[in-house]
Amino acid sequence: MAEFALPKNSKIGKGIHHPAPTASAEKGRMRKFKVYRYDPDSGENPRYDTFELNLDETGPMVLDALIKMKSEQDSSLTFRRSCREGICGSCSMNIDGRNGLACTTAIEDVKGEVRITPLPHMDVVKDLVPDFTHFYAQYSSIKPWLQTVSPPPSGKERLQSPDDRNKLDGLYECILCACCSTSCPSYWWNSDKFLGPAILLQAYRWLADSRDEMTGERLDELEDPFRLYRCHTIMNCANVCPKGLNPAKAIAEIKKMEAERIV
Ligand code: SF4
Ligand code: SF4
Ligand code: FES
Repeated sequence: MAEFALPKNSKIGKGIHHPAPTASAEKGRMRKFKVYRYDPDSGENPRYDTFELNLDETGPMVLDALIKMKSEQDSSLTFRRSCREGICGSCSMNIDGRNGLACTTAIEDVKGEVRITPLPHMDVVKDLVPDFTHFYAQYSSIKPWLQTVSPPPSGKERLQSPDDRNKLDGLYECILCACCSTSCPSYWWNSDKFLGPAILLQAYRWLADSRDEMTGERLDELEDPFRLYRCHTIMNCANVCPKGLNPAKAIAEIKKMEAERIV
C-alpha cells in the first residue's frame, strides 16, 4: 500500500524517542512503535516518534498500545477510538502499511517495529486523526435513509420478506471506517468527484432495499463518469475491509443496475 500523503510543503522532522521505564524494559518483551505525529497549529513538520513498550504489560491490540503510550509516555498523542470492539469504525488507521482498525489488529500479527500512520491520502487534523469532512459530505450526498412516496401498506410499518432482508447482508454491516476508500487508488486521485468504495457500498445498500421507492432517482444521481465509473476493479477495497465486506461487488451491482435500465 502506498504512503499516506504528507501535508503540503512538509518534510518529516526529527522524531522524539519515548523509552520504556528501565524496570519495565529489563524484564519484558520489548517492542518499538513508530508513530506519525503532526500538529498543524505548531507550525512544525510532521515527524515519527518512537515509543518502546513492554508487551507483557500491554493489552494485545494496537489500540491497547496507543492507549498505554498516551497514558504513560505522551498525553498529547491524539487518535480516535470509542467502542474497542470493531463496531464504531473510529480507530481506523494505517498499521504497518495496511489500513485497519487498531482495536482489532493484534500487535503480535505485526513483525518487528510497528509503524502507525493516519489513513492514507486524507488531510490530517492531528497525529492519527484524519479529516472526514469530505467523506461524510459524500455519504450525505447519497441520501442514506429509506425514501418512499407511498404510505406504508399496513398503515404502520413497511414489512420485508426474509429473502429481501437477506439481500442487505454484506451491506448493512459497514461501519464507515473508510479503510476501503483510503486504500483505493482511484479515490486517492479523484476523491473530489469519485464517491469511492465505502460510499458506493452504502449507496447500493439503499438500492438493494425492497422497501425503498427512489431507485430510479438514486441511479440517476450515480450515473456519472466520475461518481461511479472511476472504479477500475483493483479490489484493494475488498482486501482491506475489516468487516470482510466487498465494496467492489456492490459497485459492480450498481453498474449492472445502470446497464439493465438502459437496455
Ligand atoms: S475495486 Fe474499485 S473501489 Fe475498490 S479499490 Fe478498486 S477501484 Fe477502488
Ligand atoms: S466497506 Fe468495510 S472498509 Fe469500507 S467503510 Fe465499510 S466497513 Fe469500512
Ligand atoms: S474503537 Fe471502535 S472500531 Fe475500533
